[in-house]
Amino acid sequence: EKAEPLRVMISGAPASGKGTQCELIRTKYDLVHVAAGDLLRAEVAAGTENGKRAKEYMEKGQLVPDEIVVMMVKERLSQQDSLEKGWLLDGYPRSVSQATALKKFGFDPDIFILLEVPEELLVERVVGRRLDPVTGKIYHLKYSPPETDEIAARLTQRFDDTEEKVKLRLLTHNSNVEAVLSLYEGITIRIDGSLPKQEVYSEIDCALTKLHEQKQAPLGSL
Ligand code: AP5
Repeated sequence: EKAEPLRVMISGAPASGKGTQCELIRTKYDLVHVAAGDLLRAEVAAGTENGKRAKEYMEKGQLVPDEIVVMMVKERLSQQDSLEKGWLLDGYPRSVSQATALKKFGFDPDIFILLEVPEELLVERVVGRRLDPVTGKIYHLKYSPPETDEIAARLTQRFDDTEEKVKLRLLTHNSNVEAVLSLYEGITIRIDGSLPKQEVYSEIDCALTKLHEQKQAPLGSL
């Protein structure tokens, strides 16, 4: 019999490494990566009404209103691939109302991963971050430099990746994080996200492997 798919939430301050860890997790576990920020940036790039409204909030580092974000995430999680393979939800929920809405639609996580990184490291991570528009891969000029000159030449920067903007995003994060965490107490694992990315990943990998085994042999089936 086929194992039940994993349902994973990953959370943490801006630039704590959510997207970076999701790349690594997805490669091994073949989960569908659903990143609220990426879905929003796609709307902004497409120039839709929702995208135009969302951008106003994103530029201020504030939460985009629920009526835009909730349905967007719900629709992505409802697609066949997410239902079949399982999902890796990145940057959602960021408020109690977002968590409640998702639960109402029947999407419950098996595990809630929290990346903990001291604030003084976050600004440097944001300012040095670069993205490859061709592969979607996340780089950092110092910590994960591009492999070739060709890649280096095409790297881009996110519109909200300035020191000033990340401080605003951090304020928003800090005012919501405790309330969200209290909803997932029993299934939360806290990971030291200040370590090098492969070390952060091995802790996550351990936890997910354990979870995966539990799901293949649910209690009572042995
Ligand atoms: P979003 O895109 O989710 O931004 P964020 O939460 O600020 O997080 P980031 O994407 O900046 O960072 P990350 O944790 O993925 O770090 P990364 O792996 O890239 O949201 C943007 C905006 O959209 C929000 O401000 C809000 O307006 C809106 N929004 C999003 N979700 C919403 C929601 N649910 N509701 C309402 N509004 C919402 O790493 C960062 C850098 O560090 C990279 O350069 C990387 O190479 C480097 N790095 C990573 N790990 C390490 C390591 N271990 N050591 C050294 N360097 C590392």
